[in-house]
Amino acid sequence: MANTALLDHRLLFVTGKGGVGKTSIAAALGLLAARQGKRVLIGDLDGRGDIAAAFESGPLSFEPTKVSDGVFAITMDTEAAMREYIKLNLKVPLVGSVGPVAAAFDFLASAAPGVREILTVGKYAHEVRAKNYDIVIVDATASGHVIGTVAAPDALRELVRVGPIVDQASWMNDILHGHGTTGMVMVATPEEMPTTETIELRDRLENETSLGRAAVIINRVLPELFSEPEEKVFAEFQDHTDALIAAAGPAVEAVMQGAAFASSLRRSRTQHIERLFAEFPEDTVVAVPQLFVRSEGLRVTKLLATAISEELGV
Ligand SMILES: Nc1ncnc2c1ncn2[C@@H]1O[C@H](COP(=O)(O)OP(=O)(O)O)[C@@H](O)[C@H]1O
Ligand SMILES: [Mg+2]
Repeated sequence: MANTALLDHRLLFVTGKGGVGKTSIAAALGLLAARQGKRVLIGDLDGRGDIAAAFESGPLSFEPTKVSDGVFAITMDTEAAMREYIKLNLKVPLVGSVGPVAAAFDFLASAAPGVREILTVGKYAHEVRAKNYDIVIVDATASGHVIGTVAAPDALRELVRVGPIVDQASWMNDILHGHGTTGMVMVATPEEMPTTETIELRDRLENETSLGRAAVIINRVLPELFSEPEEKVFAEFQDHTDALIAAAGPAVEAVMQGAAFASSLRRSRTQHIERLFAEFPEDTVVAVPQLFVRSEGLRVTKLLATAISEELGV
């Protein structure tokens, strides 16, 4: 469905259940934005640096690495984020050993809930505010955790009412709460659990945060194996498997079973796709096909970018 505004956001958090394709989709969205001439930053929240594999780049760090034309990637390092935060916001010269900063950070992070989250979300919000990139795409942690992370500046405002920290939380919130500026991209595969979790996440997003919803991506949608007339022919074949084996040999059985499996898998997935379309406005749902390639990495990222581009109509 056409959703030309998706890449007009300045900050996107890509989330979903483990294994649904968050990292691949975040990378593909980044590649697509760069194809449109945008300067892109992709990062994560957990410091795992998974984005590197999607671009087949070397290991990532807190310093941006160019992973493709127009695409830069970082991996989160909360201590480095804290050092940068102090340098940028508190105008305190950081000389000599980082030991004391690390100790202060550990103290703060364990004493005040949300400090780690503020620093990570704050890093990306800062990149948006400083206009260092046209779009910042965050490969966010699995669904549940992301709520606490993006709500951290709100929580902080509740805790602290005056002083520089409040100013920080308030410009961060201006960026995070701006619908059309910041949004959540929820990735689901058309299966029971990822679908249910996506709907639950939508509710928590609405009830517990002020973040907008940018898109729902249904990843790994299977192609239709048979058209309706073909389905009928296939049913005939199934009724006459013995005769077909007699005519063409025992391999017929494996072929028939394979086709039956693919066809029923597609049918079972259809109900989840329909459920997602029923729960979300049609123009926010993007269906991405299952790719049948043996490779991983950049080739998959490029193919996904092209598939998303066709779906978005951009
Ligand atoms: N549409 C797709 N078609 C085929 N393979 C895919 C597709 N989307 C993701 N993958 C593959 O699935 C695996 C898991 O994806 P990944 O992005 O790492 O998931 P997550 O970050 O949600 O854990 C990767 O090997 C990736 O290449
Ligand atoms: Mg991942």
